Amino acid sequence: MEFTIKSGNPEKQRTACVVVGVFDNRKLSLAAERIDRAAKGYISDIIRRGDMEGRLGSTLLLYNVPNTLADRVLLVGLGRERDFRDREYYKAIHSAVKYLNETGAYEAVIYLTEEKVRRREIGWRVEHTVIAACEATYRFEHMKTESSEIRRPLRKLTLSVPMRSDLLIGEIMLARGMAIGEGVELARDLGNLPSNLCTPAYLADTARKLASMYPEIKTQVLERKEIEELKMGAFLSVAQGSETAPRFIVMEYKRPGVKRKPLVLVGKGITFDSGGISLKPAADMDQMKFDMCGAASILGVFRAIADLKPELHVVGLIPTCENMPSGRATKPGDIVASMSGQTIEILNTDAEGRLILADALTYAERYDPEAVIDVATLTGAMVITLGHVASGVLGNNETLVRALVSAGDDAADRAWALPLWDEYHEALKSNFADVANVGGRPGGSITAACFLSRFAKKYHWAHLDIAGVAWKEGKEKGATGRPVPLLANWVLSQENSDG
Ligand code: BES
Ligand code: MN
Ligand code: ZN
Repeated sequence: MEFTIKSGNPEKQRTACVVVGVFDNRKLSLAAERIDRAAKGYISDIIRRGDMEGRLGSTLLLYNVPNTLADRVLLVGLGRERDFRDREYYKAIHSAVKYLNETGAYEAVIYLTEEKVRRREIGWRVEHTVIAACEATYRFEHMKTESSEIRRPLRKLTLSVPMRSDLLIGEIMLARGMAIGEGVELARDLGNLPSNLCTPAYLADTARKLASMYPEIKTQVLERKEIEELKMGAFLSVAQGSETAPRFIVMEYKRPGVKRKPLVLVGKGITFDSGGISLKPAADMDQMKFDMCGAASILGVFRAIADLKPELHVVGLIPTCENMPSGRATKPGDIVASMSGQTIEILNTDAEGRLILADALTYAERYDPEAVIDVATLTGAMVITLGHVASGVLGNNETLVRALVSAGDDAADRAWALPLWDEYHEALKSNFADVANVGGRPGGSITAACFLSRFAKKYHWAHLDIAGVAWKEGKEKGATGRPVPLLANWVLSQENSDG
């Protein structure tokens, strides 16, 4: 979709549709009021009749509104004015765009950007209108032979800003929203692709494609032999059960002349998690194609930053393979040596994410990083802890953890911190090796992060467990693209910090 920005009166827009808000209970927004005044009370008459109460996300389409130049006026419910915050804003934009996309209008001028949202300036509203609009129009249907294609989809959305002096910041944030929106879309596409198509080699090709699109990105793909040479015994122990070959993807984004230490992003890339010999139950196992959503979010962030070109050095590391049972698969009780030298007793082959991440975290040491963040659909326990609302953040540096929580808050892609206290390490004791790969059910997300922390001692590190937020189940089953907005926000915020 195409996005533009402008400043002007709603009744004077020559367009297929003007979008304005109505608060609960039947209170017109400023833009709606302007149209109403031009139309001599036409809108307030309709509202008085009770066709639009202003309930959040509701819509009412009007044709031929007198004294306006637009073909249509779309009223969008904003909910109660004093409750109108980030989430409500998002929801209103989302419903409006979804509605427009499925109506005849191929373009529209939206005035919801002019509404006040607590703590959010015009730049934020522009950025998030774009991201929400991309999300609302996203479809993944190219694998259906009879696609239910939309006949006249929304092609162009113009965002209105209150003043001409807002246009400059508006343009900048529009570009930012588009870059992040496209990053989210890439992450969603990769997540939604089934594991027979989205293989480790496919993820590697995607990384190579990004490198060919953007001169700031370089990609290197390591195959099994090179992974063996690096002695990534933990990673290889997961990959060995599958007929599909593993890859270790290294991406580097760098602007010329940047002297700062790199930020390293690590993504879990299990393209299918059957559990291995500790096989998962059959119900919902299809969802384990989403077990590479951490990796997909790294690719999405690279796509976004390559568009926006911050003066930074960012490294992306993706260990990727399948977790399968077979005659060659790792068996419970097997002991392997990780790249760090620490030995691991694999008590449960379904706790595979931490194994592939352990070696990637050791590999990260060679960059002498400023900070390392890993992103993983790591534990089912995370879904129990925070549900589908927030990612869990754990780490060895308080400032970094807090910065991520705050980046998530600003991005409407929330994360919440969990503790990583010493007491939790007890659970990982092994009678036979340096560490066990599972710590039992209590505090499962925390003990998983404890395991990772043993491989992240040499730098500032944080871990995002996205098991609850990376995809939706049920009727809306599909990847969300989270936490691309959070990560992109954090990475971009590092441009102006003095490291
Ligand atoms: N990929 C899963 C985690 C997961 C499960 C995410 C369900 C989202 C929904 C991970 O590899 C896994 O299997 N974890 C185990 C760990 C356990 C064996 C200690 C889990 O959470 O059950
Ligand atoms: Mn698993
Ligand atoms: Zn997994």
